[in-house]
Amino acid sequence: MKAEEMFQQAATDFFKVATAALARHGVCLAAISGGTTPDGWFAALAAAGWPHWNRVEWFWVDERAVPPENPDSNFGRARRLLADPLHLAPERLHRMEAEKADGAERYRALLADEERLFDTDSRFPRFDYLQLGVGLDGHTASLFPFSPALEESRETVVAVPPPRTASPAVPRLTLTLPVINAARRIAVLATGSAKTTLLQRRLPAPAGADAPISLVRPVDGELTFFLSA
Ligand code: 6PG
Repeated sequence: MKAEEMFQQAATDFFKVATAALARHGVCLAAISGGTTPDGWFAALAAAGWPHWNRVEWFWVDERAVPPENPDSNFGRARRLLADPLHLAPERLHRMEAEKADGAERYRALLADEERLFDTDSRFPRFDYLQLGVGLDGHTASLFPFSPALEESRETVVAVPPPRTASPAVPRLTLTLPVINAARRIAVLATGSAKTTLLQRRLPAPAGADAPISLVRPVDGELTFFLSA
């Protein structure tokens, strides 16, 4: 499948899931990752003419410790490619302030204050839609191979040091696996044969810290991979 088709499929999936979320609790609580892969998905979302953008709350799965104006900022990229074209209200964009020393605590508090993330009996905040990417080292979010962050079972957000196996090599904030796995829908977007091959070879084997993407196992939700050559 070509990348453009994959992005269109992933956008259609988002609208289906988001529409169900609106019917269920009047809002779609979405968390998005960074990197370059979402660019095509953002373009497909922005071009669709969906009428309910004012009922989506946007959160981040992870963020680099840089200000929004920095080209490496996940928030800045999403604002430029999705929020600005759709004229999304700034109050619906809940940025991870990863450049601040207390950024993890701030985002933990932000999630804890969003009651709609807890409208089920889940101990962890439940996103209606959580988009992930994957790196060639098997990382996802900013959860890198053999990172102590993979063991986190209590906190919703942690700070991680600069990765050795991915770029940019800057400190990051990331949602933890309990939050990721609490999501109702997890959509993993990946382009290129190297990532597809990585996933096809690694995912049938038992989950492990060598490939954090293998640890993404929704507790009570659906996991869908959108892959393109
Ligand atoms: C990050 C991302 C990261 C990303 C993968 C894939 O902040 O680095 O959230 O998890 O999804 O590294 O990145 P690409 O899409 O650029 O290949």
